[in-house]
Amino acid sequence: MPYAHITGWGMSIPEPVLTNEDLAKMVDTNDEWIRDRTGIRERRIAREDQFTSTLAVEAGIKALQAANLAPTELDLIIVASSSPEYIFPATACIVQDQIGAAKAGAFDLLAACSGFIYATNMAAQSIRSGSIKNALVIGSETLSRFVNWKDRSTCILFGDGAGAFVLQASERPGGVLSAVMHSDGSGAESLTLLGGGARYPATETTLAEGKHYIQMDGKAVFRFATRVMGSATKEALALAGLKTEDVDWIIPHQANFRIIETAAKYLKMPLEKFVINVDRYGNTSTASIPIAAVEAFEKGKLKSGDKVVFVGFGAGLTWGALVAEWTGPIPAKKQAHPEQYRLFARLRSWARRAIRFLEGFLSRREL
Ligand code: ACO
Repeated sequence: MPYAHITGWGMSIPEPVLTNEDLAKMVDTNDEWIRDRTGIRERRIAREDQFTSTLAVEAGIKALQAANLAPTELDLIIVASSSPEYIFPATACIVQDQIGAAKAGAFDLLAACSGFIYATNMAAQSIRSGSIKNALVIGSETLSRFVNWKDRSTCILFGDGAGAFVLQASERPGGVLSAVMHSDGSGAESLTLLGGGARYPATETTLAEGKHYIQMDGKAVFRFATRVMGSATKEALALAGLKTEDVDWIIPHQANFRIIETAAKYLKMPLEKFVINVDRYGNTSTASIPIAAVEAFEKGKLKSGDKVVFVGFGAGLTWGALVAEWTGPIPAKKQAHPEQYRLFARLRSWARRAIRFLEGFLSRREL
C-alpha cells in the first residue's frame, strides 16, 4: 500500500491589509477589544479582480513548484472552500483549466473551516488505495465578499487567502499517518451563510434580510471549538500510535488566539509548539492551516521528519485532525517548471471554446 507524502506547499495572500484601526472607522469597535478577544491585528482583503480561483491558482502553482511536479502529472484536484466562486461549476475545475492539469479530476469540498483537513484526508486515502498517484489540495477563500461590514461581531474575524499541498504516492513510509473527521449538524444554526442556495435563492427579500452574509453565534462556536480541538488531536494521535510528547508541531485552524490557547491547556502542551499567525491574517477558513504550514516551513520551524498535527473546526458543525510526518523538499532530478503550463493551458482553453462554438454553429446550420 503506497504512502501519501506531502511533497509541495504554497500560499497566496492578497496585498491589501485591513487593520483593526481601519475597522474602528467602519464599525463601533477598537484595536484593544479585537486583540484581547481574538488575537487578530490585521487581515488581508482580496482586490476586486482577485477571486477564490485566482488565489487558489497562485497557491497551487507554488505548491507544484515546491514539489517540482508538472500540472499534467496531477490525477486529482480538490478545492476546499467556504467561499467558492460559484455553486457550480466547481472552483477546482476553474483551477484545473488555468494551471493546465489536463488529466486531473477536480471537485470542490465543503466542510467550512475543517475543509482542508477533510480534503487532504480524501486525497491521501485515494493515494493509499492506489487509485491515484498525485493530488493537489487547495484551501482558498474570498470570505470578505460574504462579510456584513456593518456587523462588528463578525466583520473583525475573517480574511482572504489560499494555501495548497501537493500529495504524492511513495513506497517510503511516512506522510499522512492518520486522520479523523467529525460532524454535528444539530449545531448547524450557530454559523451560517444561507442566501444564494436552493432554499433561499437571491431575491430582494433575501437581500434585505441579509441572508447573503455570514451569521454567527460567536459564543456557541467558541464553546464548541474549545471542546473539539483537543479531543480531535488526541483521537488522531492515538490512531497514528503517537502521544502528545511525540508531536513537534500543532498547526491549528486560525480562528481565535484564545481557542488555540485553550486547546494547548487541554492537551498540556506548551503554546510554543503551536504555529500561530492569526494576528496577521485573521480567520481565512480553509486556507488558514496550509498558510500556517507554509510559513512554519519557510521560517525553518517545520523540518523533514517532524510529526505534525493539523486540527480544525468550522460551520456544519464540522471538525477534524490529521497527523503527518512532514516529508519536506525532495531532491529534483530535473526541473518541472509548472508555471510554464499556464500559457499553454490558456491557449488550449481558448481553442476548446472556439471548437465548441463552431460545433454549435455547424449543428444549428444542419438543423
Ligand atoms: N468590538 C467591540 N465590542 C464588541 C465587538 C467588537 N468587534 N463585537 C462584540 N462586541 C461586544 C458585544 O456587543 C458584547 O457587548 P454587551 O456585553 O454590551 O452585550 C460584548 O462585546 C461581548 O460580546 P461577546 O460576543 O460575548 O464576545 P466574546 O468574548 O464571545 O467574543 C468572539 C466574540 C470574538 C466572536 C468569540 O465569541 C469568538 O471568537 N467565537 C468563535 C468564532 C469563530 O471561531 N468563528 C469561526 C468558525 S470557523 C468557520 O467555519 C468559518
